[in-house]
Amino acid sequence: MITVNHNLNNRPIGFFDSGVGGLSVYSKFRKILPFENTFYYGDLIHLPYGNKTKEELINYARNILNFYKEKDVKAVVIACNTSSAQAYDIIKNEYEFKIYPIIQSSAKVIASQNINRIGIFATEATVKSKVYTRELHQYNKNLFVKEIACPNWVNIVESGKFQDKTAFDDINRHLEEMLEIKPDKIILGCTHYPYLIPILSKIVSHNIFIDPADIFVEYIKQDLAASGLLKEDNVQPFEDFFVSANPESFMEHAAIFYKLNHSPKICIL
Ligand code: DGL
Repeated sequence: MITVNHNLNNRPIGFFDSGVGGLSVYSKFRKILPFENTFYYGDLIHLPYGNKTKEELINYARNILNFYKEKDVKAVVIACNTSSAQAYDIIKNEYEFKIYPIIQSSAKVIASQNINRIGIFATEATVKSKVYTRELHQYNKNLFVKEIACPNWVNIVESGKFQDKTAFDDINRHLEEMLEIKPDKIILGCTHYPYLIPILSKIVSHNIFIDPADIFVEYIKQDLAASGLLKEDNVQPFEDFFVSANPESFMEHAAIFYKLNHSPKICIL
């Protein structure tokens, strides 16, 4: 029997990513749980996360989780594959609140789909960790998995230079390499990459791509419900945005996935 404490359940949920990428998760979350109080932290000063060391990524994650601890959150959503891959295993038992990492929370559902060959596009640090392969094989050890790092894609998204020929050529080159393995599905294993679907789908049908965000937000909803942590009233929630640098660029590029109704506050951790 779950006991629901309404005051405790009104505590906010904190999201974070290196930049606008995590908004691809955040926007889906707000659609399915529109009354939750939320924070979003974009760590733009350290962007991109994909070329950072494990130690640096653990450090960033700890600083953000400590910031959210001060804000008395009931949960933190690691809306970043790189941080989920490199930092989550180390910091997961250091906090009293729930921590939801995108890779580990969505692997089971992805691995249970009727597929034999799967490709993963991700950052260099995520690919290096092999956490996607580890997590998928935990649920389906027969799955053929190919991980490819795309070091330029985060900067293409954060700079908004989607239409440049150099961006298209870079995207095309990685996609062609991936298509050689004849994947049934390709995971967009970085929360920035769904912003590139309009370009990727000029080359191959968008149906081949899996954005783990859909599975992830459903998982969070179910787990909050099972833990008796869902906010139960329909009172208008608050949402607040923080960035460690470049608030204007964040607000401008965020708009593809989520229209912020106020500027993010600068907060360097
Ligand atoms: N969007 C993040 C991810 O999912 C981080 C990308 C980066 O900053 O390199 O991995």
